[in-house]
Amino acid sequence: MPETKSKKKRTSKASASRASETPAAEIARLSAEIAHHDALYYRDDAPEISDADYDALRRRLDELEKAHPGLRQADSPTVKVGAAPVAAFGKIRHDVPMLSLGNAFEDQDVVDFAERVRRFLMLGESDELEITSEPKIDGLSISIRYENGELTQAATRGDGAEGENVTANIKTVREIPHTLKGQNVPELIDIRGEIYLGHKDFEVLNAAQAESGGKIFANPRNAAAGSLRQLDASITAKRPLRFFAYAWGAASKLPADTQAGVVAAFKHWGLPVNSLMRIATTTEELLAFYRDIESKRASLGYDIDGVVYKVNRLDYQERLGFVSRSPRWAIAHKFAAEQATTVLEKIDIQVGRTGALTPVAKLRPVTVGGVVVSNATLHNEDEIARKDIREGDTVVVQRAGDVIPQVVEVVLDKRPEHSHAYKFSTVCPVCGSHAVRESVEETGKADVVRRCTGGLICPAQVKERLKHFVSRNAFDIEGLGTEKIEFFFDTGRIKSPADIFTLEARDRASDEPLTKLRGFKDTSVRKLFAAIDARREVPLDRFLFSLGIRHIGETTAKDLAKAYGSLEALRSAVDAAIEGGKESDAYRDIDNIEGIGETVIDALVDFFSEAHNQEQVAALLKEVTVQPYVRTQTKESPVTGKTVVFTGTLTKLTRNEAKAQAERLGAKVSGSVSKKTDYVVAGTEAGSKLDNARALGVTVLDEDGWLALIGQA
Ligand code: IVH
Repeated sequence: MPETKSKKKRTSKASASRASETPAAEIARLSAEIAHHDALYYRDDAPEISDADYDALRRRLDELEKAHPGLRQADSPTVKVGAAPVAAFGKIRHDVPMLSLGNAFEDQDVVDFAERVRRFLMLGESDELEITSEPKIDGLSISIRYENGELTQAATRGDGAEGENVTANIKTVREIPHTLKGQNVPELIDIRGEIYLGHKDFEVLNAAQAESGGKIFANPRNAAAGSLRQLDASITAKRPLRFFAYAWGAASKLPADTQAGVVAAFKHWGLPVNSLMRIATTTEELLAFYRDIESKRASLGYDIDGVVYKVNRLDYQERLGFVSRSPRWAIAHKFAAEQATTVLEKIDIQVGRTGALTPVAKLRPVTVGGVVVSNATLHNEDEIARKDIREGDTVVVQRAGDVIPQVVEVVLDKRPEHSHAYKFSTVCPVCGSHAVRESVEETGKADVVRRCTGGLICPAQVKERLKHFVSRNAFDIEGLGTEKIEFFFDTGRIKSPADIFTLEARDRASDEPLTKLRGFKDTSVRKLFAAIDARREVPLDRFLFSLGIRHIGETTAKDLAKAYGSLEALRSAVDAAIEGGKESDAYRDIDNIEGIGETVIDALVDFFSEAHNQEQVAALLKEVTVQPYVRTQTKESPVTGKTVVFTGTLTKLTRNEAKAQAERLGAKVSGSVSKKTDYVVAGTEAGSKLDNARALGVTVLDEDGWLALIGQA
């Protein structure tokens, strides 16, 4: 988000969070505020608040949504930013063509480059020649025009002479200012640089694409290009594209007489520039920079494919000029290829905790970008079919930074004769149960993920569940990691969570105790038993999370723990929902809990209706004590522990605000009236709930009565 060009700033009002607000109310307010500012910014080009204030709003919303994913609104501005769609891309001619760079692959090529420049400029041995060095970003180049500091148009490189008009899309890239700030902003300047996608964002995007059956991008560069070239700029807006400014085209005036000076001015104007740029005066320094950047390559968080050296003085650049389509004053020193060709020997199917079957390519080991690769992800069944990947195929494998290696494509010329299209198994490779693609409720289409239906009879799922059970955010049993679980499971010592806690007693009675086995020392066995013992008391939220129920992550487990306080209370609510079914009050009561929706309730109902699970939980509860949830923030209030139902239209608060406020004060908000209801708060046009309350003799309050009760009148 750029510096504002607004005359009226509403800085202080924008970002302050209100002391009395619940997370839900704050999320709702922030979402609305941000949507309002997005519209002013993207649609009207007339922002009212500064970048810093806008960023503060987004940071706060991000923070809240991360802490309470269940509260994220479907149309949250963190996933949807409004920007008017463009009908089609027009063309923009570049006043100064966008050229490319010559390449250096060997150290000697760099030495030759520096010598060539010196010769051309007729520099003496003692004359200094400064050369900048910076990472070569592997994204797509873009030219952004600013007139009197305002972003007026943006174009892709295209054929170098003419590119596509992507102004609307570029305006959605948060890092690119709509207005340049500070001194010496020229009347006109075309800023050039690279649009890219970070590794983490790329993985998140591909995972989401895989989940929704969308296009899987081969690498961050393709994903960035695909994201930018969207006719509907609101799609671009959802993709976290980033930008580095490193060059310029047409300019009415330049702010400095060196490459580094101009880039420093870019930074002052609010443009993102790469902080790794250095100035060198010898070839040795250039090569040292190259090696340093190469060693940092995997940890930079974005793809680079080399470094770029540029003569620093602009008058030298001018004199050096261009040869064919590349400047004589710059060169790209490329890294070794990050793609390699190898044979895909086999497709393995891994079975996860929830039964998801994930295909993994087993490769003949090959070095890609300096790392030996023998596995690559294939994402899902549809992806294999789309690329027609077959066992025995020769494939192009790609690795970029720390991104999981991927199979880019099949080398069809090398396909063995009589090869067959890969047939994705419809049974679980581990337990033989049916593996199905459930239909997705919202879309009605088959899920891209095929799942084993074996549940607890599937050893792979059981093993993964046990690993989850002992993991850091669950029972957190020290010394009981993945390998130990595999060993204890494979040797029949641990088959269920309860077995972990009976391990010591059984081991004592055993003819073959652990201490007799290779790799188990007395002290480590003792430590392990002590670590297990230390977890015989477990907080409710951790306990719920550890069960590995689908859709119950840490946050949802906390929400449930907070709402019910004890395992018993939660179990009886779920049992009532199992008995009553989807239309029952009991089901709706759970639905009324902040952060909990039908997906979670259905998962709870499925889990607790299953006899296997009931047995396992009962066995576990013989070994461990679940501590009730301790409310830390909530102070005692007149409604602590009371059950409240809101009905009808409220005028001073929205229903959601009222609900959130009541919960903050320790009340339980329910959607239906029963004998257990303490208060019914009736707004105008209250219907059957009010009648029920009267019939059951439940205290009925109007809105003012409620506010008086909680001390907010
Ligand atoms: S300077 C006259 N600096 O590499 C060309 N280019 O192979 C001036 N690139 O089209 C370009 N990082 O898309 C420059 N730090 C960097 C770069 C960079 C990536 C790209 C750019 C260019 C291509 C040339």
